Amino acid sequence: DTIGLKDVYKNYFSIGVAVGKRNLAGEESALIKKHFNSITAENDMKMERMQPQEGQFNWKEADSLISFAEKNNIKVRGHNLCWHEQAPSWFFTDKDGKEVSKAVLLQRLKAHIDAVVGRYKGKIYAWDVVNEAIDDDSTRYLRNSKWFQICGEDFIAKAFEYAHAADPDAKLYYNDYNTERPEKRERVYRLLKSLKDKGVPIDGVGLQAHWSIYEPTEKELVLAIRRYSSLGLKIQFTELDISIYPWEKNKRSKRPDESDAYTAELEARQIAQYKMVFDVFRRYKNVITNVTFWNISDRRTWLDGYPVPGRKNYPLLFDTQLKPKKAYWEVVKF
Ligand code: XIL
Repeated sequence: DTIGLKDVYKNYFSIGVAVGKRNLAGEESALIKKHFNSITAENDMKMERMQPQEGQFNWKEADSLISFAEKNNIKVRGHNLCWHEQAPSWFFTDKDGKEVSKAVLLQRLKAHIDAVVGRYKGKIYAWDVVNEAIDDDSTRYLRNSKWFQICGEDFIAKAFEYAHAADPDAKLYYNDYNTERPEKRERVYRLLKSLKDKGVPIDGVGLQAHWSIYEPTEKELVLAIRRYSSLGLKIQFTELDISIYPWEKNKRSKRPDESDAYTAELEARQIAQYKMVFDVFRRYKNVITNVTFWNISDRRTWLDGYPVPGRKNYPLLFDTQLKPKKAYWEVVKF
């Protein structure tokens, strides 16, 4: 029989999972209780879900996630407070459809963070305060989002200050993806260092870990952990999944083809990649405080149909029947 991932890793870091409402109801809830001691809302705490219209909050799904967690002794990670995606457009425009000023946008951000972090004060142990603020283009620094266009870089530090004021005990994280790629790593480092230098209340960095069987390499992963933790920050792997497709096959314009099967060869590479990353995680347990999977099983993951419409993916440790895959056995064996 399987052993709970959280039990196997109890002397290392907590093991989390991102879920939606459907996961809590069905047979997957048993798997959640058995394997995980941290939980994240895959979508239900994002800006558009929490505050779809100005001043109209929607607590229903987030509240039920939290009560599920409380009942089952599971900690809750909050995701997220400020992001360019899944942020409703009302934030950025006034009643006449004109773009708001920096003062107004920061005031709205503060009101949002006060309400959300305040409601769950003491119930959410860590928040992703700002998500994905670094540009993908290596010649640029910060992403040219609405937040940036209206506020410049100030919105980042402000978001952390607002969150800290609303719950001084919550651990505050900056969260991003592709953080092991050297050119992005240095820009994430630059942002984190500037926040630390300014005395901004930041506790750690969330590395999303939307990885593939081809990357990161062990060397890249180790360098990223060392670089970020050299700032005195904790590290959490917040959205782990290991796609079977290489980055080049991830163009939105692609269509699934017969080469997209989950072959034994790809599965073997995936097992090796899971083994490698968990070997590294264990080595750096002093700075790593959580590892969270982005959903439970291959039955349904956000990578089904993303970014290639119609293409299935198999990125997790449990299969479409919720049975542990070989990669699971590799992760618990050490
Ligand atoms: C994804 C969810 O998994 C999907 O269900 C949703 O449609 C889009 O967002 N980076 C993040 C997450 O920080 O919030 C994203 O989650 C995946 C990429």
